[in-house]
Amino acid sequence: MKIVSVVGARPQFVKLAPVARALDAAGAEHVIVHTGQHYDAAMSDVFFDDLAIPVPDVHLGVGSLRHGAQTGAMLAALEPVLAGSDADWVLVYGDTNSTLAAAVAAVKLHLPVAHLEAGLRSFNRRMPEEHNRVLTDHAADLLLAPTGTAMAHLASEGLSARSVLVGDVMTDVCLRTRDQVADRPSPVPEDLRESGYVVATVHRAENTDDPQRLAAVCEALAQLPVPVLLLAHPRLVARAREHGVPLDRGRVRVSPPLPYPQTVAALVGARAVVTDSGGLQKEAFLLRTPCVTLRTETEWTETVDLGWNVLAEPADLPRALAGLDPAPTDATPYGAGDAASAVATALAARRVTARV
Ligand code: UD1
Repeated sequence: MKIVSVVGARPQFVKLAPVARALDAAGAEHVIVHTGQHYDAAMSDVFFDDLAIPVPDVHLGVGSLRHGAQTGAMLAALEPVLAGSDADWVLVYGDTNSTLAAAVAAVKLHLPVAHLEAGLRSFNRRMPEEHNRVLTDHAADLLLAPTGTAMAHLASEGLSARSVLVGDVMTDVCLRTRDQVADRPSPVPEDLRESGYVVATVHRAENTDDPQRLAAVCEALAQLPVPVLLLAHPRLVARAREHGVPLDRGRVRVSPPLPYPQTVAALVGARAVVTDSGGLQKEAFLLRTPCVTLRTETEWTETVDLGWNVLAEPADLPRALAGLDPAPTDATPYGAGDAASAVATALAARRVTARV
């Protein structure tokens, strides 16, 4: 069985790590294509190194462009790569522009497409990620869903026959990394650890692109009565500079993005997380650190239902943070950490040789 994985952005490298390991264990031939959507060493290379992911076989070097130009450049660059690939499956991950470009490039070549992390919905049609998910799910031949909620969304869109519940592969890598870093020194400065810190990340277009919204988010972080370790995504840094919004106000300590193991360690030691990232909301839950999400909706509704995640507007952040008091739980809505082997099994079981 030959699988071509197409990745390009930071969360996709995290998802790729356990999948690459499981495909290797299953004896599959696995080709990795990197679109180049994320290109800074801290956003890309360190993930391959730390998570022991094989070096990509092909790097397209597309880089940052406007949405249409970026997606189009990837589509054009992927076509000749996929055309000669003879893949049993083109495997696409999550909801980025790289996901959509790879799905469209593959279907136009009649190559079977499998979508990992299928069925997530925010129902917010202003998010670029929501379009990427919906379009990719409807183009794909196999929908690998992380949760029962995702399976229900796929069913309501008439996609049940193509859907398989595999669990969440980010859980595999998160729990494994938690155990690996348990006895390593903390990456968080001692003074922050002593007073009890919050980890914050902000990168979504809806929080960074509008100057007023960005100022409100940064103001809310600056108002917090505890130290805030702000892991600053390049988009946040770029937009803050462009809009003249300072990041390092109040007790906010700005840090470059951390490698994955250090991120997990920082989350384990934090008193809370404030984020707009999908992955971080879930990782916070898995590591049992309470979370406030600066969005009006979430795809990972289980974290909210179980009381470990609260959605808040920036102005409500201090109150939301102070009110966090989740009940202990041993619920496993994202699986037991063995989703990647279920992915390999589903790909083998549903293997198709050609598309009509
Ligand atoms: C993308 C995904 C988002 C995902 C996120 C994870 C889309 C539409 N969005 O958002 O779903 O949650 O990745 O990080 O695909 N930049 C750098 N260096 C890099 C990468 C980006 O400086 O290595 C800067 C550039 O200024 C760029 C901006 O970040 O303009 C945004 O990058 P882009 O790839 O458009 O999307 P993200 O915001 O990272």
